[in-house]
Amino acid sequence: MWSATAGGLRGRGTEWKATLGLLDSIAAGQGAVLLVEGAQGTGKSRLLTAAEETAARRGFVCARIRTDQPADVDDVAAHFAEGASRMPTLITVEEAQSADRSTVAALRALPAWLVGLPVGWVMVRRRGQADPATDWLFDEWSALGATRIRLGPLPRAAVAEIMTEALEARPDDALLSLASGTGGNPGLLVALLDGLREEKAVAISSGSARLLSARPLRLVEKTIDSWLEQLSPSASNLLEVSALMESPFTADELAMLIGCAPGELEAALAEAVGSGLLQVLRDRTMSFQHALVRQSVARRVPEAVRATLRRQAAGRSSRLAEPLPEPPPRVASHVRVPSERVEDCWDRLTDSERTVADLVAQGLSNRQTAERIFVSPHTVSFHLRKVYRKLGISSRVDLTRITIERERAGLSTADPVATPAVLPRRG
Ligand SMILES: Nc1ncnc2c1ncn2[C@@H]1O[C@H](COP(=O)(O)OP(=O)(O)O)[C@@H](O)[C@H]1O
Ligand SMILES: [Mg+2]
Repeated sequence: MWSATAGGLRGRGTEWKATLGLLDSIAAGQGAVLLVEGAQGTGKSRLLTAAEETAARRGFVCARIRTDQPADVDDVAAHFAEGASRMPTLITVEEAQSADRSTVAALRALPAWLVGLPVGWVMVRRRGQADPATDWLFDEWSALGATRIRLGPLPRAAVAEIMTEALEARPDDALLSLASGTGGNPGLLVALLDGLREEKAVAISSGSARLLSARPLRLVEKTIDSWLEQLSPSASNLLEVSALMESPFTADELAMLIGCAPGELEAALAEAVGSGLLQVLRDRTMSFQHALVRQSVARRVPEAVRATLRRQAAGRSSRLAEPLPEPPPRVASHVRVPSERVEDCWDRLTDSERTVADLVAQGLSNRQTAERIFVSPHTVSFHLRKVYRKLGISSRVDLTRITIERERAGLSTADPVATPAVLPRRG
């Protein structure tokens, strides 16, 4: 049974106490603001819903502001302007990181405007992409005394409790160790449990649950796919390359493998770390937060891209992780068919740019490409930057991927490496 004292949430006693504190303060006629932050799947929405349910049971008025519907915030303002309601009210804000500028401004002003009324706020935001507007909103509110909580990993005991509850049986050591790969992320844990059930990978007898097969689970992979889709292309690309590296690794090693200067990775790296998928260790090296995430992300990378990366790693003393135990099972489904947009962009490349793109996509370094076509490495990187810009991509891995997709779709007219077009010599 869920513990009634924690809003049905496992391992979130402190956070739930803060939530109840907010509701008490509303009931006592005082407004207050609770700020909740966390990575994908840490239980932000769940906490918000639990707060709303409890508030509704206590007879509060509840209103939710969805930041993809900017009109919501106006409705709330209008409600108070017209009726000047004295009813205890809980206003929740979901996904604050997606709010546009005017909604952020309203979220800054409204609670202040409603001071003196029994109105409390819970604002929730996903950490990840650089997000100065809600940084400002959250910093301002905490400076004004709002309670700010960050949802971290669940404690191990809570993970075991959630498993026991879902399986209706005590998990064995193999199951517990598989679940530890979620790094205490409840969203991932729920996907893992659903996957185990769906793929009938658990046997249950006399109150004990035994793991039958530890194949990476389709539902976990789907969850990871949807998480990566919410990141910028450069951050998800960075994660894909990181997933192939031996952990822990440094930002320099990563940059070397991606083929750019470490400084160019800063924004994507901050996003990947902010999303909670990558963690920075004490000595500033990095690794994946969750083993299951690393495995599933690595599986997204087509074998041909891996081969390119292996070649690049060999030349640059970067370390790639041991190959995964099984061959990637679903590569074909990960390969995106080149869109018309990519094709249009490809057509806009000049002959020189196309030649450089083909060679680089085949795994040659800038220097090797330069030697092959008798120009300076500077010229190669000049062309490459234009290729990236025209194709809307940010790395050699993206380029390789596009080239492979085009080849599979029969669109590539790439000359083999041996007969590249000769570029005009430049400075
Ligand atoms: N503390 C918890 N105990 C049990 N289940 C949880 C807990 N936190 C989250 N969950 C479950 O994990 C999944 C992901 O939670 P969700 O609130 O959607 O995460 P977020 O909004 O942070 O992305 C949901 O199925 C949710 O019910
Ligand atoms: Mg959510």
